[in-house]
Amino acid sequence: MIEPGPVCYRTLAYPNSHHLSTYQAIGGYEVIKDIITNQTPADTIIEAIKASGLVGRGGAAFPSGLKMSFMPKSADTIKYLVCNSDEGEPGTSKDRFILSENPHQLIEGLLIAAYAIGASVVYNYLRGEFDVPYQRMEKALEEAREQGYVGQNIFNSGLTIDIYNVSGAGSYIVGEETAMLESLEGKRAYPRAKPPFPAMSGLYGCPTTINNTETLASLPVIIQQGPSWYKNYHSENSGGTKIFCVSGHVMRPKIMELPLGIPFTELLDKVGGIRDGNRLKAVIPGGSSMKILPAEVMLNIHMDYASLKAAGSAIGTGAVIVLDETCCMVEILTCLMNFYKHESCGQCTPCREGTPWIYRTLIELLNGKSSVAAVESLCRIAGNIEGKTICAFGEAVAWPVTSFLQHFSDEFIYFAEHGHSMVKGRKKS
Ligand SMILES: Cc1cc2nc3c(=O)[nH]c(=O)nc-3n(C[C@H](O)[C@H](O)[C@H](O)COP(=O)(O)O)c2cc1C
Repeated sequence: MIEPGPVCYRTLAYPNSHHLSTYQAIGGYEVIKDIITNQTPADTIIEAIKASGLVGRGGAAFPSGLKMSFMPKSADTIKYLVCNSDEGEPGTSKDRFILSENPHQLIEGLLIAAYAIGASVVYNYLRGEFDVPYQRMEKALEEAREQGYVGQNIFNSGLTIDIYNVSGAGSYIVGEETAMLESLEGKRAYPRAKPPFPAMSGLYGCPTTINNTETLASLPVIIQQGPSWYKNYHSENSGGTKIFCVSGHVMRPKIMELPLGIPFTELLDKVGGIRDGNRLKAVIPGGSSMKILPAEVMLNIHMDYASLKAAGSAIGTGAVIVLDETCCMVEILTCLMNFYKHESCGQCTPCREGTPWIYRTLIELLNGKSSVAAVESLCRIAGNIEGKTICAFGEAVAWPVTSFLQHFSDEFIYFAEHGHSMVKGRKKS
């Protein structure tokens, strides 16, 4: 289930949320029209984005205005903006509803960002499995072109900003920003070594900014309402809103755009609490690659960047995966590693060899053919992946392993010693 929200999901409150007329009725495209008509200096827009406290919603939480300011000011080379609509992180399904339900706001956000960084070409790279979102984006772009909002001479200003949708081919790694650039260039999606960073040498070697869909779709409202409205949306300096995708063992899994800083217990109430009256055991608070936190920590957490970082995890993509007391942590980690061993691109040896090694070790454990020494080796293998790969996929593998073992090592050791789970009713060997 999905609920309307104040920023990226605001058209959802209306019938035909994706129609141009719906967006226009709430002031759609007025922000970019004002910017272009008044020739607002690019720096003014970038400063407003900095002041809003917006950080990237794609997982890494990099300050969005600061990233824009890295783009060279000179006009002697073509510059690109890339919108990351790959949305591959397990548990995450927020961007797809921006694409399918509020495509015109994303287009306006793309125009604002492109104007601010001086980009004349924008690629919106959509996850290959996104069928309806792709169709809706195509239709919305067609309408925006017809209105003179996109393409040559937009708003009769002489300015050109072209936008293209690109459909991926179903890989997780292509969501990594430099892998996405490789894919856009028609090559295999292998992440690039950095530096150089994309602002210096990105798509086709030209200055490029890459941002997540939710980040870019937030811009029209941030500029319309003002940075301090956004930054203080719920509580002072909280830094705006976030789409949370609450899944797992809750009564009513839901996707909601809420103020950052909302207590986790309130989030849980909004989804009807834990299923079947069970007790909460743990939460992966930001998509499957973020560190798991036990119930006692989560029940006292506010859902904002600083609080989750202080607790040893992160907001990531905002995918909140809730696990109840019936879960066997050995099974859950094995399931996650099955995904990561399949998605490793194979470019870096520690990840290519280490990820299936972790998976095999866990399978042996699940089959009752393991030892405490093998359990202890898991963190060692993860430690030899973390920080030793070209991209952060290495961390996405290592963080679940180390955090599951940090908080639930007793379950792994019990499994090794007894050949079955210590959780009542779970797998026997
Ligand atoms: C393995 C991997 C997968 C990623 N997948 C996505 C994704 O699906 N969508 C996304 O926006 N960012 C993804 N990222 C993060 C991007 O590399 C990048 O940080 C982000 O698109 C920047 O946008 P933002 O600053 O607006 O968050 C991924 C990173 C890694 C390492």
